[in-house]
Amino acid sequence: MKEQIAAIRTEAAGFDISTADALEQYRLRFLSKKGLVSELFEAFRSVSGEDKKLYGKEINLLKQEVEGRWTAQKEVLESGPAAIDNSFDATRPPQPLGLGSRHPLSLVRQEIIRFFEAQGFNISEGHEVVDDWHNFGALNFDEDHPARDMQDTFFVQTDPDILLRTHTSTVQVKEMQLGNLPIRTISPGRVYRNETVSARSHMQFHQVEGLYIAENVSFADLKQTLYLFATEFFGRDLKVRFRASYFPFTEPSAEMDVSCFICNQAGCSVCKQTGWVEILGCGMVDPQVLENCGIDSKRYSGYAFGMGIERMTMLKYQMKDIRLFFENDLRFLRQFSSEL
Ligand code: PHE
Repeated sequence: MKEQIAAIRTEAAGFDISTADALEQYRLRFLSKKGLVSELFEAFRSVSGEDKKLYGKEINLLKQEVEGRWTAQKEVLESGPAAIDNSFDATRPPQPLGLGSRHPLSLVRQEIIRFFEAQGFNISEGHEVVDDWHNFGALNFDEDHPARDMQDTFFVQTDPDILLRTHTSTVQVKEMQLGNLPIRTISPGRVYRNETVSARSHMQFHQVEGLYIAENVSFADLKQTLYLFATEFFGRDLKVRFRASYFPFTEPSAEMDVSCFICNQAGCSVCKQTGWVEILGCGMVDPQVLENCGIDSKRYSGYAFGMGIERMTMLKYQMKDIRLFFENDLRFLRQFSSEL
């Protein structure tokens, strides 16, 4: 009987059950009423006394094994590819994909870029970690120039010469040094200033700065381009004014205001009751800056301007808190379309 059990065990373990047919053969051979395992139980009846205990256990174990293999394979076959194929409906509409939306800063950045590209400007980019000369020196900020205070600077480690750029004018310095004249470029990018984070200011923000250098560029060119830009961006009925201002790298310098498009100059909190909203700084590039960057200031002149993308976005969408841009709250982000 011992040999018989062993022989059945070996045969059952090696029996091919890879298909449904083969599995049925397996069942017939081992587990059916006339199968080998049943035969074994039949033979067991005539086993005497002592041997009964021993073989009883063995035969039950064998039965469990043979049955176990059958049940397991049956499950595999029933849940196999054939089953999946039958239930797969290729005509069913798919689950909708949750599409994201563009960040409002990206939307406005893109809108600004599109305008200036259409005016013939190309796009230039640069590093966020720069040396003092590109951020300040070349732009007429002497070592002890008070205007440096306006651009509270983050220094990289302890080296006072290496810093996080406080404006993207650094890219314009690079472009002027390259000297492929005429230059007509805009530089979008992230900038950093060591400011206390509040509803109105942040230690990181984005700018688009523009630079046009050629022969005979005048303040009239500057005004015309920026006037067109403002009316495209905020609407055609807008009034624009240029206020004299100061930047170390432009002479003359101005800030550009647009008539308040929220209250139509009746006075509101956005324009602080003045009827005017400041949107950017600009001016004619100081001849000394051209010379600093290796451009002949007797032959060439140019204008430059710079604006904050956050500010433009807040005005456009009437937002009151700059921190919203960086919190990535989905409820805020989902309000902006994914177009553009
Ligand atoms: N770079 C100036 C700033 O960040 C902006 C500016 C650019 C002003 C060009 C005038 C001309 O404050």
